[in-house]
Amino acid sequence: MTTIAIDGPAAAGKGTLSRRIAEAYGYHHLDTGLTYRATAKALLDRGLPLDDEAIAADVARNLDLSGLDRAVLSAHGIGEAASKIAVMPAVRRALVEAQREFAAREPGTVLDGRDIGTVVCPDATVKLYVTASADIRARRRYDEIIAGGGTADYDAVFEDVRRRDARDMGRVDSPLRPAENAHLLDTSEMSIEAAFSAAKSIIDAALKH
Ligand code: CDP
Repeated sequence: MTTIAIDGPAAAGKGTLSRRIAEAYGYHHLDTGLTYRATAKALLDRGLPLDDEAIAADVARNLDLSGLDRAVLSAHGIGEAASKIAVMPAVRRALVEAQREFAAREPGTVLDGRDIGTVVCPDATVKLYVTASADIRARRRYDEIIAGGGTADYDAVFEDVRRRDARDMGRVDSPLRPAENAHLLDTSEMSIEAAFSAAKSIIDAALKH
C-alpha cells in the first residue's frame, strides 16, 4: 500500500496537484481540508456554536467522508470557521481517525492537508510540502474568486491568507510545518503543469526504492 502525503499552506496549489497525482497513479484522494470544512458547515447550518469543543467533536465523529464536495464547501466563511475548529484537539482526533482509515485503502492513497506528513500518516511512502509566497497565493485565490464570478478585494484576500497562515502555523496541536523527511516544492514560479511534473519526478524516485 502506498500513501502520498501532501501538506502546505492555504492556496499553495495542493488541491489541484493532489487530484492530478491521484489520477496519474490510480489512487484514492482525500482533501482533508474538506473534513474540517464539512464539520464547520454542519455546525453553522444547525446554528451550533463554533467555540464548543465537545459539540464540534461530536459532529466531527459523525461525519460521512463519502459526501464531501468542494463546490459546496468552498465558501470563504466556511474556510474561516474550519480553521477555528481545527485548533481543537478533540475535533482533530476524530477527523484524524477517519483520515487514517481512508489512508489504508488499496492500492494507494493521496491525502492533502496541513498535518498529513507530521501526524496523520507519519510513515507515508512520499511526503511533499507545497508552498508559494503569500503574495502569489493571495493572487491565485483572488483570480479563482473572480473566475468563479465572485467579487473580491486583493488586499483583503492577502490579509486573509496571512491570518490563516498564522492560525495554522501557530496552533499548539498539529501546527502546519514540513515533516522532517518532506520534499519541499515551491510553486511560486511554476505553472500547474510544471508543479505536477516536479512532483511526479519526486514520487517516481521514491517509489523505485
Ligand atoms: O483550501 P484552503 O487552503 O483554503 O484550506 P483547506 O485545505 O480547505 O483547509 C481549511 C482549514 O482546515 C485550514 O485553514 C486548516 O486550519 C484546517 N485543516 C487542518 O487543520 N488540517 C488539515 N489536515 C486540513 C485542513
